[in-house]
Amino acid sequence: MLAIIGGSGLTRLSTLAVAHREVVRTPYGEPSSALIFGQLAGQNVVFLARHGHGHTIPPHRVNYRANLWALKHRDVDAILAVASVGAITGTCAPGDLVLPHQLIDYTGGREQTFFDGSDREVVHVDFTQPYESGLRARCLAAAHAAHIAVHDGGVYGAVSGPRLETAAEIDRMERDGATIVGMTGMPETALARELGIPYAAIAVVVNHAAGRGESAQAVSMERIARVLETAMDKVKVLITQVVKGAA
Ligand code: HPA
Repeated sequence: MLAIIGGSGLTRLSTLAVAHREVVRTPYGEPSSALIFGQLAGQNVVFLARHGHGHTIPPHRVNYRANLWALKHRDVDAILAVASVGAITGTCAPGDLVLPHQLIDYTGGREQTFFDGSDREVVHVDFTQPYESGLRARCLAAAHAAHIAVHDGGVYGAVSGPRLETAAEIDRMERDGATIVGMTGMPETALARELGIPYAAIAVVVNHAAGRGESAQAVSMERIARVLETAMDKVKVLITQVVKGAA
């Protein structure tokens, strides 16, 4: 079953015909929200609101391990994550959708692995290609079929937040090769890999990153809210098409 993790602007999947909800207890504590099981385009899917249903959990307080563990233990075999980002490079602009193919982790102070006990052998997982190519291809095909423009590829720079970046920090990230910046990509992406769940992300560009374009002097939160709202309609259509494509 496909899981959708919704971020800012997608705390509820209005297109989902809800069958039941479940609060899952995990060895890592409680997930951000109840898992919402239901049908979308005739397929079973499960939805999880990353920041809680009331959007009250900031990115650095999300219990990523509990979220991923809960999905793994409810028969999830693929995860499509939705996350809002800022555009670092001129290749994308507010309102655009990006399917990132690479990631750089700048976060700190987060529980970032399931393999941190001293009671078992050390485990290292391969993370060369952080996003699963099959699921990415499925999203690209769905976007094509639904006539939704998406950028095929992007380098997601994951930061801790909750504050936005300085212009100099964005300059550094651009020198590193990051093209978009967001606060929730890590450790979510790596934890999915540790659990062996194919994972891909739809990044919704909601602003020019600090020091870029219309954010040259400051990032406007009002503008972010406006862009987020309109872009999410597109995201919902895309998700439905991804699910249909698997039917
Ligand atoms: N920086 C970090 N995270 C974000 C941004 C940003 O500019 N926009 C949306 N999420």
